[in-house]
Amino acid sequence: MSQPTIESILQEKRSFSPPSEFSEKAQIKSLQEYQQLYEQAKADPQKFWADLAAQELDWFQKWDTVLDWQPPFAKWFVGGKINISYNCLDRHLTTWRRNKAALIWEGEPGDSRTLTYAQLHREVCQMANVLKQLGVQKGDCVGIYMPMIPEAAIAMLACARIGAPHTVVFGGFSAEALKDRLVDASAKLVITADGGWRKDAIVPLKDQVDLALANQGVPSIENVLVVERTKQTTQMEPGRDHWWHELQAGVSADCPAEPMDSEDMLFILYTSGTTGKPKGVVHTTAGYNLYSHMTLKWAFDLQDTDVYWCTADVGWITGHSYIVYGPLSNGATSVMYEGAPRPSNPGCSWDVVEKYGVNIFYTAPTAIRAFIKMGEQYPNARDLSSLRLLGTVGEPINPEAWMWYHKVIGGERCPIVDTWWQTETGGFMITPLPGAIPTKPGSATLPFPGIIADVVDLEGNPVSNNQGGYLVVRHPWPGMMRTVYGDPDRFRRTYWEHIPPQDGQYLYFAGDGARKDEDGYFWVMGRVDDVINVAGHRLGTMEIESALVSHPAVAEAAVVGRPDEVKGEDVFAFVTLEGSYSPSEELEKELKQHVVKEIGAIARPGQIRFTDGMPKTRSGKIMRRLLRNLAAGQEVAGDTSTLEDRGVLDKLRGGA
Ligand code: WTA
Repeated sequence: MSQPTIESILQEKRSFSPPSEFSEKAQIKSLQEYQQLYEQAKADPQKFWADLAAQELDWFQKWDTVLDWQPPFAKWFVGGKINISYNCLDRHLTTWRRNKAALIWEGEPGDSRTLTYAQLHREVCQMANVLKQLGVQKGDCVGIYMPMIPEAAIAMLACARIGAPHTVVFGGFSAEALKDRLVDASAKLVITADGGWRKDAIVPLKDQVDLALANQGVPSIENVLVVERTKQTTQMEPGRDHWWHELQAGVSADCPAEPMDSEDMLFILYTSGTTGKPKGVVHTTAGYNLYSHMTLKWAFDLQDTDVYWCTADVGWITGHSYIVYGPLSNGATSVMYEGAPRPSNPGCSWDVVEKYGVNIFYTAPTAIRAFIKMGEQYPNARDLSSLRLLGTVGEPINPEAWMWYHKVIGGERCPIVDTWWQTETGGFMITPLPGAIPTKPGSATLPFPGIIADVVDLEGNPVSNNQGGYLVVRHPWPGMMRTVYGDPDRFRRTYWEHIPPQDGQYLYFAGDGARKDEDGYFWVMGRVDDVINVAGHRLGTMEIESALVSHPAVAEAAVVGRPDEVKGEDVFAFVTLEGSYSPSEELEKELKQHVVKEIGAIARPGQIRFTDGMPKTRSGKIMRRLLRNLAAGQEVAGDTSTLEDRGVLDKLRGGA
């Protein structure tokens, strides 16, 4: 098991045609059909999206203008009025889906709960009314810091229902990280739970919220709504903190969905970039609704009888688009699982598949590699014959993991849908349509209809087949992020001017390296910036460096990714200490713990190496390339002639 290398991927020649039994029943049945759709969309993207918007979504008022494109700022379906909570709930209530399972929840210590569309609608309306009672108005931002329980989805939909943009903060983030995000978003209220189950322990989420809010930490917060989940004690601050079950008991379940402008903000989701400060990625209502809806429908060939399970957390974009909004807008049954595979319960995922007869399973390569490590005996001991499609996301999948997924989990009958996309793109960008596009292990295959993707050099010129370059998108799409919250300049600089626009032609720069093969298939190689991907979680190296240097012992820190068998990459930190401190095991532990406190356990360095100095260029820039080589235990490759002091490198090598 290893991460894909250019060499291994260039040698990958296997191709798997869609099984004919699958294609016959699929919504898009052949390569030719895909190509027709793709060409139609390319010739007239606005007509393509407008037709789908009219056909697939319910509108309170139709739009006047499909696309208003003032590069790099896009507005879609201008003049339209719509509500995504209405599209996810109300419109299904007048159909047979009223009593269909919307959410099937499997809780960690054996709890479970199923909510039909009618039941989910009722709870969403109640929570929406509670939010109103607590003073939340249209346009106010609400923070959501929740475990994987139905109330997380209910909270998102309740916010959307009344037009309050949400910002979901992953429950694994620390109080510090939560505070930064709530402050940046000026959140007025936080929805949380007393605790949540993570692996075999309870995470006291409410206590983290208390820490974040202590000493006026987030001045904009007026109220905290607390869902009872784990029942451990927590301090409720009178006037500020409210139990959800108490307020729910006395509230009406009648709350019509607020007609929103297409471009009203639906949510902010913070993601790591190349600076120390995470970016608030802004998504708006109509375009995001359409895009998450269509991509799920076609790429996972969603059928009305499917039980669909995405293993992500709602704290990430995958949870937003493909646990909550995409599936519910389509009227699907979405499984939500509070647990995670772990040594004490290595077969839990397959228990869930068997128990609910899951048809579509969507996870990340890091999870697949962990499954491989735990052993085939666990999936083999369960009936997985209900599965008909397997998805993957989050990082490049190594062909070995792909083949294992295909054979052991998919029984060689399930197409593998490798979806390349990002927080910023709102939904899948490059993905097989499973009844139409032959797959190749390690390739996300071809762009979704309406997406004009390419691989170019830094001047924006397309590179030739099989040459590495930068992954870009040439035309706006409905699900694209609209801006960085509060920082439109950063949006412009980061995504649209990295490759200078030519003749008014703007290219969206994804931050990933890729190549295209002779069949036009995309092979995504990974990030080309200072973002690392640890167990499918996106982390900025600068963010971790800022956390480290905020400790009094640290003078300078440089963080790189080191290849890891299961996680893909692990955090490796080089640290120079302040004069009065000297390296020790305790200090190493303390620094790791400090990163956990500042960001969260997902950013904990796997290894810290103390060093007297960093390898720098004569102009004082840390040469990260060398550090990456050192962290990986490789020979330092390439040119080192710009290095200021070769002695530093020799010393670092000595300690390798
Ligand atoms: C990486 C997750 C290769 C990529 C939806 C991207 C992938 C970053 C794939 C976005 C894939 C995601 N193949 N790489 N199928 N999917 N990535 O914002 O580097 O958490 O830029 O969104 O994950 O991570 P994010």
